[in-house]
Amino acid sequence: MMKKKKNDPAEKKEVFEHPQAIEIEKYIKKRLERKRYKHVLSVREMALDLAKRYDADWQRGNLAALLHDCAKWMSPPELYEAAAEYGVQLDEVERENASLLHAIVGAELAVALFSVSDPEILSAIRAHTTGNGSMTLIDKILYVADFAEPKRTHEGASLVRKCAYQELNRAVFEVTRYKIEELLTRGTPIHPKTIDAYNSALRAITESANQPTQA
Ligand SMILES: [Fe+2]
Ligand SMILES: [Fe+2]
Repeated sequence: MMKKKKNDPAEKKEVFEHPQAIEIEKYIKKRLERKRYKHVLSVREMALDLAKRYDADWQRGNLAALLHDCAKWMSPPELYEAAAEYGVQLDEVERENASLLHAIVGAELAVALFSVSDPEILSAIRAHTTGNGSMTLIDKILYVADFAEPKRTHEGASLVRKCAYQELNRAVFEVTRYKIEELLTRGTPIHPKTIDAYNSALRAITESANQPTQA
């Protein structure tokens, strides 16, 4: 098993003392329930570890992770109201499922409250619940870290944690498969982006398995 790389403490200092990160952390600490706040910090830890492992941009991983659940304190009516205020066009499945809205509204809050303009950070926040068929490296890191951070204790999370540092696309595939199975069991709608994420991750792991090995 590949050993995960440890983050360098100096880089961590740079991450934790980023002025925008400090502002966001204050906001989420105040707004989110304690358990949710701890989850966000744990997602950040895992996202930083994964960013290091896959040579992704640290600050993007840091800010995307801190922001991903920033709208989670809102009730369903507040989320629908905020989506309308920000002029977000919701599709049919989003209109039927308030739990998907915190990701979409969260990206709008990131812009409005913290002047986040980096499209990669906003994309990762938006994609963290449903995934999609063209996820960037930061999208994948946040999607996997959100599902598998160490405070998540269910079976799916520990399975994903095991493969996240070895093969990111495999981890994305397992997260998506788990989410789809869960939605099927509950008999709730599946967002088409989740199906796209599943197909795309499956394609990626199949292609990598078919790569000729170097002699
Ligand atoms: Fe979330
Ligand atoms: Fe989360």
